Amino acid sequence: RDLVRSRGLGDVYKRQIYNIGVIDWSRRLFDELIPLPDGTSYNAYLVVGSEKTALIDTSDPSKPEEFRRGLEGLPVKKVDYVIANHAEQDHSGLIPLVLTKYTGAKVVTNEKCKEILLEHLPLKTEDFIVVSDGQTLSLGNKTLRFFFAPWVHWPETMLTFLVEDRILFPCDFLGSHYATSEVYSDDSQRIYRAAKRYYAEIMMPFRSFVQKHLATVRGLDPVLICPSHGPVYKNPNFILSAYESWVSDDVEPRVLIPYISMHGSTEAIVDHLVNAFVQKKMEVIPLNMSVSDLGELAIDIVDASTLLFATPTMLLGPHPQMLYTMVLTNALKPKTKYLSLVTSYGWGTKVVEAAKGALGNLKAEWVDPITIKGFPKAKDYEAMDRLVDLIVKKHHT
Ligand code: FEO
Repeated sequence: RDLVRSRGLGDVYKRQIYNIGVIDWSRRLFDELIPLPDGTSYNAYLVVGSEKTALIDTSDPSKPEEFRRGLEGLPVKKVDYVIANHAEQDHSGLIPLVLTKYTGAKVVTNEKCKEILLEHLPLKTEDFIVVSDGQTLSLGNKTLRFFFAPWVHWPETMLTFLVEDRILFPCDFLGSHYATSEVYSDDSQRIYRAAKRYYAEIMMPFRSFVQKHLATVRGLDPVLICPSHGPVYKNPNFILSAYESWVSDDVEPRVLIPYISMHGSTEAIVDHLVNAFVQKKMEVIPLNMSVSDLGELAIDIVDASTLLFATPTMLLGPHPQMLYTMVLTNALKPKTKYLSLVTSYGWGTKVVEAAKGALGNLKAEWVDPITIKGFPKAKDYEAMDRLVDLIVKKHHT
């Protein structure tokens, strides 16, 4: 079931660059947190120079046999260097396997990555060659140049650029959790949405770092981008322009309503809000968080202008599932401009205070939260209409 790719990169085959991807079709959760509706892949790449051979990243430690088969499917039987762009285990976990298989191979990485790898893997300090930012490594007729790119998404992350062929190996950066038998992206909406989900869940908290490293990548003008998750981009502009839009300060005039309803009051509130926004010709997306995966929310908050939470009160606070939604939203730090909240309660509520505390990282403006006792009544619908008017007005000023 797990497809192992060990192929040349099509039209660059003659340039001796191979994709060794282990495709994980059935994985549905990453970090025991992030939903993977499309599975994922752990890609590594082999670059064969006239004198030396470099393997860029490895694969997830859960797939040693698949990765070994990938290596054995290559026409080249030696590896001199393993480039570690990132210490997280899904790319570094099989470095020990590679060092055992190819005696004398060295791990090439930066000092910070070396430090993290030594803490997590059975490696020795003499296994490493440490490089600095901008340093090159010659493979003979091919040159690798390393660009430090901290915080996409760990502090040690770096990008590797194959200078002569203008091919970028950015590891996690610009990737997607998307299992496919194809090596190359078809630039479809499916890939776009998978890449947006990936950006939202993994890169968005580091938006200012992403902006900076994106500019570096643009400056390199790569002809191919080979990430360590998902397909290779033959058309780099597809992913670079998407990222430029996501990391910009611009938002889309769209109201996202994550909600939970226990006994129908919040459902009635959300129905009214949705209809009111529709009547005002404002795009609105209700998301029932008791059935939606958090990735759906993450995708939509990348560029939505407004987040309006709707939740019942439970034990004075938000429904725990909604509190969880708020805590994760806070961690993802979207560029949302306006926040609001409508809560229903039976006999007492501190939901507004709890929500403001849970969403403290966001720089958005709070717009008149509403608390409603029991099922909404005429005065509550009027208050919601005023809230909708106010939110719409803010989009026109
Ligand atoms: Fe794909 Fe941060 O590891």
